Amino acid sequence: MANNKCNRDGFATKLGVLTATLGSAVGLGNIWKFPYMTGEHGGATFLAVYLLCTLLVGMPIMVSEIMLGRYGKANVFATWRKLTPNKAWSLVGVGGVVAAVALMAFYSGVVGWVYSYIVKAITGQLNTTDPAVAQAVFNDMVSDTWSALGWQWFVFIVVSVVIIAGVSKGIERVTKTLMPILFAMLLIVCVRSLTLPKALEGLSFLFSPDFSKVTKEMVLMALGLAFFKLSLGVGTMMTYGSYFRDDANIPYTATRVMLADLTVSLLAGIAIFPAVFNYGFEPAAGPGLLFMTIPAVFSSMPMGQLFMSIFFILTGIATVGAMLSIIEVPVAFMAETWTGCSRKLAAIVTSTTLAIFGIPATLSFGVLSDVKFFGRTAFDCYDFLSSNIIMPSAGLMICLFIGWVWGRENVRRALSNNDALSNRKLVDIYFFLVKFVSPVLVLLVLLKGLGVF
Ligand code: ALA
Repeated sequence: MANNKCNRDGFATKLGVLTATLGSAVGLGNIWKFPYMTGEHGGATFLAVYLLCTLLVGMPIMVSEIMLGRYGKANVFATWRKLTPNKAWSLVGVGGVVAAVALMAFYSGVVGWVYSYIVKAITGQLNTTDPAVAQAVFNDMVSDTWSALGWQWFVFIVVSVVIIAGVSKGIERVTKTLMPILFAMLLIVCVRSLTLPKALEGLSFLFSPDFSKVTKEMVLMALGLAFFKLSLGVGTMMTYGSYFRDDANIPYTATRVMLADLTVSLLAGIAIFPAVFNYGFEPAAGPGLLFMTIPAVFSSMPMGQLFMSIFFILTGIATVGAMLSIIEVPVAFMAETWTGCSRKLAAIVTSTTLAIFGIPATLSFGVLSDVKFFGRTAFDCYDFLSSNIIMPSAGLMICLFIGWVWGRENVRRALSNNDALSNRKLVDIYFFLVKFVSPVLVLLVLLKGLGVF
């Protein structure tokens, strides 16, 4: 049971609600995963499918999670207890925490790469436009056991410090400061990339869809990305929802977050694909794409080393917002349940656990590269399990709960802030999607992921 004696913190301002939620959404998903998955799955075609997944599934589930969280005003488990006496629903919370652990296990490793690239950029080790050299620098970094692990652990220390500072003084303050800077920096990189000679080839790859290329596998990946991008199905939006102010307009906030998040993804695509085509990188290079192309973009511009360093610093910072939100799920639960309200102890226990689970993922690019489970490395297993199986399953359960158990009247009251907002039409559209459309789509994609058809 939640410890009611804990004095719950929350987001202090409306802007803080927006930046913290956006900070959760924006992260490696935009700057690292979106470009490389788009590259691997055919460019614009993937983008179009991803957009549909975001509108028909991602948005309704984001609104749902925030709404339930604000109603519960507690950690995920306590919220489910409050929502329904049927304890089985708490399993959705358990699934979320498992997904959060799997997600952080590989996510933190990639954030470690970003931090390592900050140092490399500052010390001039990335000044090259030669794909072979860029590839070699990347391979050396990911295969060095102690350096890769060291950076990953350093990331956990940074995130823990902010978490311990609290919700309003830590998470809110950090995201409010960093988000605008990230947008500005991305714009600068885009301008540089768009002025490269072969920029049009990259743009056409990103924006001219060919629907004959749509495959079931690609839809599964796009849906997984939509969940990953909006931090859904891991209890994050529910936990953040519990910090939302009562006067926050949830559908409006969610729409703004989704649009801003999409803008960052597109900007990252615009920053990366012109450079990919200009310098002859392989668009389907996979997880290393960002780390090879960005140095090339900057190496060829005046004061490139400075801008490259700033870009990696900001990417590192952007990932902090996402990590904070995911780690906050177990931290809020532990602090309100086991550690007598101590966020410090809860953050230390959580980070240590995640660092241990992260070891196999990080070593997947080095000493454990040949160790495979069902043909996937530990890194890929964590990614697939969280983004493609657990997160969508949790999302499905949330849709079913809201559409078929909680019901329209509770939803109407929650989303209109007890009739303070007149948004009945919007609520009707949302309710229809969450009751009929999103669960069917998620179920189909999940069954495909499980190999049922
Ligand atoms: N939503 C977070 C990201 O995209 C997990 O990085």
